[in-house]
Amino acid sequence: MLGPFYSSMEVRAYPNIETVDFTGSTNSDLLERASQGAPEGLWLRAKSQGSGRGRNAREWVSNNGNIYTSTIIRLLPHDPPATNIAFVAANVLHQSIAQFLPDKNVLIKWPNDILVDNSKICGILLERNEDAIIMGTGVNLVHSPQNIDRAATSMTELGIDAPDPDEFMHILVENFAYWLRLWRENGFDIIRDYWLKNAHGKGQKIAHKDYVGHFDGIGNDGACLLRLADEEIISIYAGDIFMLD
Ligand code: BTN
Repeated sequence: MLGPFYSSMEVRAYPNIETVDFTGSTNSDLLERASQGAPEGLWLRAKSQGSGRGRNAREWVSNNGNIYTSTIIRLLPHDPPATNIAFVAANVLHQSIAQFLPDKNVLIKWPNDILVDNSKICGILLERNEDAIIMGTGVNLVHSPQNIDRAATSMTELGIDAPDPDEFMHILVENFAYWLRLWRENGFDIIRDYWLKNAHGKGQKIAHKDYVGHFDGIGNDGACLLRLADEEIISIYAGDIFMLD
């Protein structure tokens, strides 16, 4: 089994998690602090956000009760390609969420949305400034934003007793440290294996811009592979993928 599954029974101090009641966006805050020299491993959690941001400049509604948090990764000279971090983050969030939903099919949609029963339970936003990558995530513990472009859900809506946010944060921090180290020490293959094992839509019909084909996994560089009817493979690096089946 990959990765530690930490439980609330373990008593640890987490001096590197800062929690605030409110901010605009934890990603914006850490981008600013990273530019002032804040180190890798710092986590900022807000109980609510006024200007939470999602991918493609979408709003991320951030009312009390869910997780809104960001962390800093400092790229090192010999790190594997930085684009891999999207998949490291997906694995971390998948693992952290799935342990609370043992009876559900928790899947990763390329590159890093986490879905349960086809509904989004978590979003990840990665932003970069020089050697600093900010990984921000919103996890729907008790409610779900209904203004996103797909169905959304939360642990509570799935009938699960959602964990206390502090407990979830500790699990997230431990799992993140574990997967980041694994990536640094072993490269992308092990990250890709877990990702593919838990991928949404394997072999399904997908669409991207003008292309329609079948989802053929991810490449060594993390590209989403779309297989056309004539077997040609298209590598997709950015933008939305739509499942057609
Ligand atoms: C998505 O569009 O799926 C990504 C959503 C990411 C939201 C999180 S909440 C914490 C962090 N701060 C932000 O402003 N956005 C991210």
